[in-house]
Amino acid sequence: MTTKKLSRGVAIVGAGMSKFGAFPEKTSRDLFVEAFLEMKSTIDKGLDTKDIEALYLGNFSSDQFEKQAHLAPIVANWIGLSPIPSIRVEDACASGGVALREAVFAIASGMYDVVLVGGVEKMTDLPINEVTEALATAADTQFEIPAGFTFPGFYAAMATAYMDAYEASPEAFAHVSIKNHKNGALNDKAQFGQTILQVMESKKARAIKKGRPEPTWKTEMEFLSDPKGNPLIAWPMTLFDCSPVSDGGAAVLLVAEDIARKYTDNPIYVIGSGQASDGALSDRETLAFIPAAVEASKKAYEMAGKTPDDIDLAEVHDCFTIAEIMASEDLGFFERGEGWKAAIAGKTSREGAHPINTSGGLKSKGHPVGASGVGQVIEVWKQLRGIAGERQVPGNPTTALTHNVGGSGQTCVVHIFEKRD
Ligand code: COA
Repeated sequence: MTTKKLSRGVAIVGAGMSKFGAFPEKTSRDLFVEAFLEMKSTIDKGLDTKDIEALYLGNFSSDQFEKQAHLAPIVANWIGLSPIPSIRVEDACASGGVALREAVFAIASGMYDVVLVGGVEKMTDLPINEVTEALATAADTQFEIPAGFTFPGFYAAMATAYMDAYEASPEAFAHVSIKNHKNGALNDKAQFGQTILQVMESKKARAIKKGRPEPTWKTEMEFLSDPKGNPLIAWPMTLFDCSPVSDGGAAVLLVAEDIARKYTDNPIYVIGSGQASDGALSDRETLAFIPAAVEASKKAYEMAGKTPDDIDLAEVHDCFTIAEIMASEDLGFFERGEGWKAAIAGKTSREGAHPINTSGGLKSKGHPVGASGVGQVIEVWKQLRGIAGERQVPGNPTTALTHNVGGSGQTCVVHIFEKRD
């Protein structure tokens, strides 16, 4: 097959998000308004809202979480965009990344010049058992769910397969969590704005205040190894291996390359896009990697004319810590079976050879599922513009990648972005 190219260039000229977390007093509309207004404020030369010709909104399941289906026209109206076409894009946790891809195609086709891409999810109104059930509808309900799987269970099964295939130590999962919490502590939009050391110290302080014996943890590793601090969710995945349940909204503005400088002198270009699909876990030959991620990244690299070594930083879908390790191999940053060693060696830290999840990732920044893929784009947009503050990757990064997964790997969408002088 010939390499596919976009028939017209596409650039991002503005990006904004709400804080991710648990906000009982807010709805999807409120969260998306916050994201939209921040996005608008980042457009250097200003935006007339009337310029926006369509909205693509990533949202997994407002119908289950808020009993509100048909969300896109509602949020579009809330921010004054009616009567433009407003489309909800649903691909489980990859909804936001797929919304971006569809918007890129809409501009590349010549249909539109200015498109708003959003993502929003409001998950925390339901009790945790109902959230787990709602998320489970993203799996194969004929073959996977009747076998007793939940999402932590899927990734636990992948983790055991990975550990078995590569003799990986579960210590690697803790390293991913420690790194992502460290990055998230530098991100004021993150749900957990704390390092694991800070979480540990606050738990000790709470024990003392309640008159209980002070826990004896001295290091993050001691804390993470103690089920009293870090309970098991689905072996080998513990609480600190899981992304949380979150509320949040995110928005980016895409425009055709030829008009990008009307909005900013510093556009960030979308140069590669790849998407792939797969069946249930039972249909796969191995659970030690995600085939759809390999396929999607291959397509994105081909379109961009880049290789894994060209990528200066990546935001990957770390819904569970094992997912980040598998992604670091599926995307070609490390050989098969080397990702867990790279995590322990610090190669994915901000200063490492392949910085991953500088935002804190889904693990620490939060995972409001429909918004997560767009949230990833916001981080790479900031990093490529050099405005990521204390968590800025050193060395003037020019090329970055996002990797957004739906379900247990039934959908994966990968994008590559570039800054040009
Ligand atoms: N990581 C670290 N700490 C977490 C956490 C997480 N993922 N989730 C909750 N906590 C903390 C809370 O902050 C709280 O701390 P505190 O006692 O110091 O205040 C404590 O754990 C209990 O929080 P609670 O909200 O009651 O947890 P929960 O038991 O309802 O939920 C999980 C925990 C792991 C079950 C839930 O986060 C989960 O289901 N995560 C996975 C989500 C998912 O599958 N997403 C889709 C992925 S594809």
